[in-house]
Amino acid sequence: MINYTLKQLYSFESVIRLGGFTTASKELHITQPAVYMQVQQLQESIGAKLFDINGKKISPTFVGKKIYKTAIETINTLETSKLEINEILNPDSGHLQIAVATTANSFISALLSKFKKEFPKMTFYIDVTNRHALLDNLKNNNADLVIMGEPPKDIPLISQAFMKNPLIAIAHPQNNLLNKKKVTIKDLSQETLLTREVGSGTRITIERFTGLNFNSDIQINSNEAIVEAVQAGLGVGFVSMHSVSLQLKNKIIKELNVDPFPIIRQWHIVHHADAELSPIARRFKQYVIDNTKVGEYL
Ligand code: PGA
Repeated sequence: MINYTLKQLYSFESVIRLGGFTTASKELHITQPAVYMQVQQLQESIGAKLFDINGKKISPTFVGKKIYKTAIETINTLETSKLEINEILNPDSGHLQIAVATTANSFISALLSKFKKEFPKMTFYIDVTNRHALLDNLKNNNADLVIMGEPPKDIPLISQAFMKNPLIAIAHPQNNLLNKKKVTIKDLSQETLLTREVGSGTRITIERFTGLNFNSDIQINSNEAIVEAVQAGLGVGFVSMHSVSLQLKNKIIKELNVDPFPIIRQWHIVHHADAELSPIARRFKQYVIDNTKVGEYL
């Protein structure tokens, strides 16, 4: 009967991945002969050759490739389970993986920094990206939580709206349009328009609500850079109020009074319906909901 141990699988996986017994022994913190012995015992237990050595190159045989795949899957399952058990036993110290729409980054960083004060041992990774990449993230279930605008309808999700996202048109304080009582979309179309890149939720919404077509205008894939370009007098920009509250307050830029702006959207906190939230992800989700208000924007 084939009977192999976890130690043997760890050794074999390391040897094949790193291509040698010496490098594997360094990674595993055991001696080189000990790694060799583990792999030999694995071969004996299976009763087949698992690798060939050609010069200095170690490559798995056909059976070796199957065992290597099993080893990777077993090790991944085990390591994930260790993390999960650790999170259950120490709910304050988990690891959180969040993907955030570029536009939401400003307020999510502030929320995370307050949350971290309450759970100092937790660690996190934030992937700041646009709507298009967030959708991929959701499809592949890559992040614990996703913060985005309108959630897609074609992916099974659990989503909750938690705050308003007003989209506005902004201009340099000396822009002539600010002297007009009523600015129209036609007036805007005479200006140089600064818009986010294709794939941005902000851009898709503005195109949908205004009928503007940005193809020939200036595209910038950062809200901050759009604001700076407006400040420099390059043109009229479209951003979320969240990206410009400070600049509006300091009157460095001004909001244009143009119908249908502000376009009110909602921020959502989302995860894949099949995903089971870790304790720290559950806590953060609740924290976001408790520390924001659905009908407000700050
Ligand atoms: P984005 O974010 O414009 O940075 O893509 C908004 C959204 O998710 O709709």
